[in-house]
Amino acid sequence: MNPAFPELPDFPWDSLADHAARARAHPDGVVDLSVGTPVDPVAPLVQAALSSVAEVPGYPTTHGIAALRDAAVAAMARRHAVTGLDPAAVLPTIGSKELVAWLPTLLGARGRTVVIPELAYPTYEVGALLAGAELVRSDGLVALGPAAPALIWLNSPSNPTGRVLPVEHLRKVVDWARERGTIVVSDECYLALGWTTDPVSVLHPDVCGGDVTGLLAVHSLSKSSSLAGYRAGFVTGDPALVAGLLETRKHAGMIVPLPVQHAMVAALSDDTHVAEQKARFGRRRAVLLPALEAAGFTVSHSEAGLYLWSTRGESAWDTVSWLAERGILVAPGTFYGPTGGNHVRIALTATDERIAAAAARLTG
Ligand SMILES: Cc1ncc(COP(=O)(O)O)c(C=O)c1O
Repeated sequence: MNPAFPELPDFPWDSLADHAARARAHPDGVVDLSVGTPVDPVAPLVQAALSSVAEVPGYPTTHGIAALRDAAVAAMARRHAVTGLDPAAVLPTIGSKELVAWLPTLLGARGRTVVIPELAYPTYEVGALLAGAELVRSDGLVALGPAAPALIWLNSPSNPTGRVLPVEHLRKVVDWARERGTIVVSDECYLALGWTTDPVSVLHPDVCGGDVTGLLAVHSLSKSSSLAGYRAGFVTGDPALVAGLLETRKHAGMIVPLPVQHAMVAALSDDTHVAEQKARFGRRRAVLLPALEAAGFTVSHSEAGLYLWSTRGESAWDTVSWLAERGILVAPGTFYGPTGGNHVRIALTATDERIAAAAARLTG
């Protein structure tokens, strides 16, 4: 327990330690599919951009260089058909996790309600708790009643389930939130990784009608460009909301390092490495998914993103244990919410060789 913040949960990954030790003891080595950390090298053009400004000594700006904001707007249009964004309404972030953790605080949600998906990336809960907000887990709007939450998180494609929210669902949430003055924050870090369906941004004209008022989209370069180690993300949408975030983040020194800003310009301006990375994940998915099914797993959702949301019809921890016995480490669904008790989250983020090893162990 953290005495400064007793309301925060224990860090969930610590509870995997025994299973991790067992999986690591496998004679052919562990296949770690628990954390979604990229393993493929950063694209050379991104590395070159990073080092191109290594000699620059001065402080970077919190708003980032203009080229970065322009590159983000152009990438949103090219890759996701989000048009009409104001470059001034792009704010670089130090990866997206810090923004997720601090956004309810930065938006002044103290004492108000923050709504998160029933099964969700744990940092949404942490952010609400850090802000002193009340947390509600819900996938439906009806259950929320007439009250006006401060903000509602969307995450499509979802971590952990890979579920994609259709345009009509996104539109309903936006309309519902607008009636109440609730801010919609859409975490879109897996948007480029659609497998059997094309995920859509909350800022797409089909969803918001070209009006981004009250909407924020959170983007990360960690998965699509393998830049988790660089800490590279941005938030965009409603210019007034972004201006407020910028103001507070300037005071707080939440600044993306200049070399990373340049790396982001390169990554956002090149779609080839993104397509190559997606193809790598797609090949791994094509090996792992049938192997899991052959081993008796049922994989639900997982139509996009980096995870196979899988069950053997037993408790999540029993499945974690069954897989650890075979040297495969995964995350129990309970990390993501109380309704995840019969599922495990299996990441596609391992090398081709390790994914092949996992498939062989599952089907052998
Ligand atoms: C849903 C979701 N949001 C945000 C993040 C944070 O990613 P990063 O801080 O690397 O941008 C992750 C990382 O796995 C995630 O799954």
